[in-house]
Amino acid sequence: MLEIHLDESDIDRELRADVTTGLTAAPKWLPPKWFYDARGSELFEQITRLPEYYPTRTERSILAARAPEFARLTEAKTLVELGSGSSEKTRLLLDALLRRGTLGAFVPLDVSDSALADAVEGLSADYPGLAVRGVVGDMTRHLHHIPDGDNRVVAFLGGTIGNLDPAERAKFLTTLRGVLHEGEWLLLGTDLVKDPAVVVPAYDDAAGVTAEFNRNVLHVINRRLAADFDVSAFAHVALWDADREWIEMRLRATSAQRVRVGELGLTVEFAAGEEMRTEISAKFRRAGLEAELARTGFALRHWWTDPEGLFGVSLAQA
Ligand code: AVJ
Repeated sequence: MLEIHLDESDIDRELRADVTTGLTAAPKWLPPKWFYDARGSELFEQITRLPEYYPTRTERSILAARAPEFARLTEAKTLVELGSGSSEKTRLLLDALLRRGTLGAFVPLDVSDSALADAVEGLSADYPGLAVRGVVGDMTRHLHHIPDGDNRVVAFLGGTIGNLDPAERAKFLTTLRGVLHEGEWLLLGTDLVKDPAVVVPAYDDAAGVTAEFNRNVLHVINRRLAADFDVSAFAHVALWDADREWIEMRLRATSAQRVRVGELGLTVEFAAGEEMRTEISAKFRRAGLEAELARTGFALRHWWTDPEGLFGVSLAQA
């Protein structure tokens, strides 16, 4: 079952607004959510299997080790997953909660209706006793559509919260806290601060998959908004911002470019060497995250990491 709070025309309106704002700003920028058309989602799946990209497999190992403990601690009746995508890692949580005998419903929420429909179909078939209710929505705007219930757990995995800047994170966590009842839970995956020699290659892999993923946003704009970006004239840049402790992905015009965005009636000039930001991916420390959670009404109850301390999974309580 799918519930739609975001249809194609909403998405289209949002894309137009984002592209207009971002391409007329100085410096130019684009929000990372537009990477994920079918090709972008497939490229991201490839990224998760690259030797340099440690977050996915590390988070999976933490969840595999901690799932029974998670189930015992939360005894969740409803598991909500934000930005669920393929819901692959979530099966570890579902299995543990079903074994514990508390779980009745799974609610994946994602902006991509196709990815969500596939996930709901697969999960419904594999978990016949479970009510699977997909919600098509934007996790920053449609949190209030999470079904009411008691003893809910909201899982936000993969480190995707790192795509929000600190102000956006505070707003997001505050809104989420507002829809949860006291005692309900947040399971949050965050990539951790570490040697840039480990982080940077994860965002600039030898095979060039992340570069293709980054440039894919230009294909998306070309197709959806009748633009004429020469995609091959933009180079992938991944840099570590040591002060803000985040990775910044950019696209650098390798020569002067004039781009026409037909659907917006917009012409945009890029100087040779000009860089446009396409993503931030913030890395966290336990103390800073615990403070951010506390400021937004969540108490950090458990902190789970891998032996190398690459990735953190927090279990926090409203
Ligand atoms: C899916 C948002 C967690 O920030 O690491 C992967 C996206 N960007 N490589 C991340 C991404 C470049 C990814 N998240």
